Parts: sequence; structure tokens; C-alpha cells
Amino acid sequence: LFVQDVIDTGRNLVVANKNEFVIDRSADLGIMISDATKLRQSVLNLLSNAGKFTKGGRITLHVSRHKRQAGDWIRISVEDTGIGISPENVQKLFQNFKQAEASTASRYGGTGLGLALSQSLCRLMGGTISVESVLGRGSRFTIDLPAYIEDSQAAARAPSMPHGEAFSHAV
Ligand SMILES: Nc1ncnc2c1ncn2[C@@H]1O[C@H](COP(=O)(O)OP(=O)(O)O)[C@@H](O)[C@H]1O
Ligand SMILES: [Mg+2]
Repeated sequence: LFVQDVIDTGRNLVVANKNEFVIDRSADLGIMISDATKLRQSVLNLLSNAGKFTKGGRITLHVSRHKRQAGDWIRISVEDTGIGISPENVQKLFQNFKQAEASTASRYGGTGLGLALSQSLCRLMGGTISVESVLGRGSRFTIDLPAYIEDSQAAARAPSMPHGEAFSHAV
């Protein structure tokens, strides 16, 4: 299962800072046809950030399926109880090389490329990535994707899925 694979890999990223890892997965996830490589990379980037910016807290991976008029969508969100992000900085997060605070690189390392990459990957799959955060309280990053990549405009934008393999199996 795709989610189980992400959980197994992501667990190490999350528990490194003594964080608890909680999985909230709805029972009706069903089948997804998407690009496994891109999706995996995007979710692991979010889990890596959550693990890095949260110490002794809780990180929750939510996965659910939603019916929309144009077809089913899958929502994957990563919620943490970490340092959070101020409203001014939330807007800039998805830019290349952008870190929320000037001091982030020296305190936490990183390049500021992870979220920009995740956003590009999600767009290629016809989806979106969004964030809600409260400074000092925590953050929640949400990926919304069509469950079947051909059902969406994504097929036009990523006709041959050049950098990854399509997968079709249980989420
Ligand atoms: N879960 C999070 N909690 C707090 N801040 C975050 C979180 N995820 C990302 N950020 C902020 O967004 C910036 C950009 O994230 P990212 O593109 O992954 O870069 P990097 O991890 O290399 O710093 C981070 O530097 C950090 O300031
Ligand atoms: Mg990162």
C-alpha cells in the first residue's frame, strides 16, 4: 500500500526529535492512479519538515478520500505541533530557496527548496499544496490530488509522467 510505504519511510524522519507519529487514515481510501515517485517525494518532504521543526511534539499524517463532481480526490495532510510560521512568512514558503526566518538555515540547516519542489510535483499531478500555520503552535500542510490522474487536467499537463511511473493500487 502506498500510504504504508510512506509511513514506514517517514517514521524515521518524524521520530528523530522525540516526536510522536500518529496516523489518521480513513477506511475508504480505495484505489489511486497517480505518479508514485512524485507523490512519495512530496509527502516525505512534508514529513521531513514536520520532524525538523517540531521537538517533543506530535506529528499526524491524515489521509482521506473525497467525492467531488469531477471525480474522487485524495487529501494527504501533515500536521505538527512545532514552531509554526508567521502569517507574513507563510506566503513566501513555496518560493525557491525561501526559509521562513533569516536564522532558519543556521539553526535547522536546509536549502529552502523542499516546499518549492513539492509544490511543483503536486501541480504536475494536477493537485495543490496548501498550508495553515500558527506561530508557536504548529502547522498543517495539505496535498489535494485527483485520485485518477487521467480524470483531471493533469493528463494534459503531464502526458507521459516523464520522471516517474504511474501507479494504480490501493492507497
Ligand atoms: N512544518 C514546518 N514548521 C515550521 N516551519 C516550516 C515547516 N515546514 C517548512 N517550514 C518553513 O518553510 C521553510 C521552507 O521549507 P523547505 O522548502 O522544506 O526548506 P528547508 O527544509 O530546506 O528549510 C523552512 O525553512 C521553514 O522556515
Ligand atoms: Mg525541507
